[in-house]
Amino acid sequence: MKNIKTMLDKTVNIINTYYDHSEKNPVLKYKSPATLKKEINLKISQKWTPVNALFNELEKIALNSPKTNSKGFFNLLVGGEILPAVMAEMLAAVLNNTMHTYKSAGIHILIEQEVIKFFLKKIGYKNGDGIFGPGWSLTNMIALVLARNEKISSIKKLGIAGKKLVWYTSDQAHYSTEKFISVTGLGKDAIRILPTDDKGKMNTKILEETIISDLRHGYIPFFINATVWTTVLWAFDPIEKIAKIAKKYKLRLHTDAALGGWALLSKKHKHLLKWIEQSNSVSRSLHKMMNVPLLAAVLLVKDPNTLYENFHENADYLFQMDEKNLNPGNKSIQCGRRNDAFKVWTALKYLGEKWYEKRINQEFGNAKYAVSVIKKDRNLTLVLEPECINVCFQVKGKPASKICEALDKQGLIKVSYGKRKWEEFIRLITVNADMTKKDIDNFFKHIKNVKI
Ligand SMILES: Cc1ncc(COP(=O)(O)O)c(C=O)c1O
Repeated sequence: MKNIKTMLDKTVNIINTYYDHSEKNPVLKYKSPATLKKEINLKISQKWTPVNALFNELEKIALNSPKTNSKGFFNLLVGGEILPAVMAEMLAAVLNNTMHTYKSAGIHILIEQEVIKFFLKKIGYKNGDGIFGPGWSLTNMIALVLARNEKISSIKKLGIAGKKLVWYTSDQAHYSTEKFISVTGLGKDAIRILPTDDKGKMNTKILEETIISDLRHGYIPFFINATVWTTVLWAFDPIEKIAKIAKKYKLRLHTDAALGGWALLSKKHKHLLKWIEQSNSVSRSLHKMMNVPLLAAVLLVKDPNTLYENFHENADYLFQMDEKNLNPGNKSIQCGRRNDAFKVWTALKYLGEKWYEKRINQEFGNAKYAVSVIKKDRNLTLVLEPECINVCFQVKGKPASKICEALDKQGLIKVSYGKRKWEEFIRLITVNADMTKKDIDNFFKHIKNVKI
């Protein structure tokens, strides 16, 4: 017990120092890998490390980590935090319940069910089901497998050899979409990457033409992956039209709502996702805009039986008690599974829907404010009117990549850039709901003043 107390105290000290440090030194001063290796002994040796020395190293590691919760972090899609959710994540590590059975995880199975029920309702699935998974990419892959097995039910027994299955996505879909083809045994020829329009949205005319052509050539179309919003441009694929095509040709429609899904919690903005309930499944990265710690990825499906039917296997050494609904190990592709729902539940419980909605509206408000700053400044150009909270812009006479690199190297802010037909642009994503107009002003001050 004495040891526990010492280590807990030391951990709390590190956390306090970290928060203090990140307030005073947003982001992180750039250090090369060689410098970091010199400053912090990362070598694992035969000898054990005394507790004091170990915690000194841990503190150094914490202070040398990019500070995603600071007001200078605009890089991609994590940022900000809801403190009780952070604490719940720490608690989850202490409790260490694996989420395969009620016997192992007890109340946490009920918590996960509650969170899944909450999001199913938001999507508009009356009787659906869901499962948290190890990262968004895998949840999307599961959606693909469900569609594949639904189209040809013998695949689970006989494999896919010789089946000319094909599926559709856009050239703006997340890069992991293409990785699934190798792990699902479908092969590269099975994917049709469709061109997008000027705003980055899937072209439904080309989608339908491609399906018709595939059918004519003896292929078996089975799946469409739509995205709301897309990774770089935050384009919203036209789900309504895609859903009609999916229905007409009997394809399963999946919506990657890794980014966009959070708007469902805002009465003001949820209309942006109308028609989402037309998809057969939806994947969400809750660790992005919902400001909970990584990872919190969930797959939600309309049919309440499909996960169980696809992933149930007999394991009498594991499933020894309780009804199947209490043992999610038989509807997941994993056996041992992290307890990711707990922090999400804690954030929702703490803020309630109303305060969560406020945070989401704040994120939209910050994006709107950033757009107004850009439009007023002759040195800045907005490259696309944002539909959401992704503000893409350029600085006259300075390449976006050079600005982002200089800001990072000088430890000022972290922000990334994207590329499209027209060239590079900076992507300001107002994902951290704790930021205010002052922080956005500070962002632009650095963008304009940085020496490249
Ligand atoms: C549209 C979209 N889908 C999926 C992902 C992957 O999500 P994660 O980083 O949570 O694996 C991203 C990441 O940026 C994304 O932009």
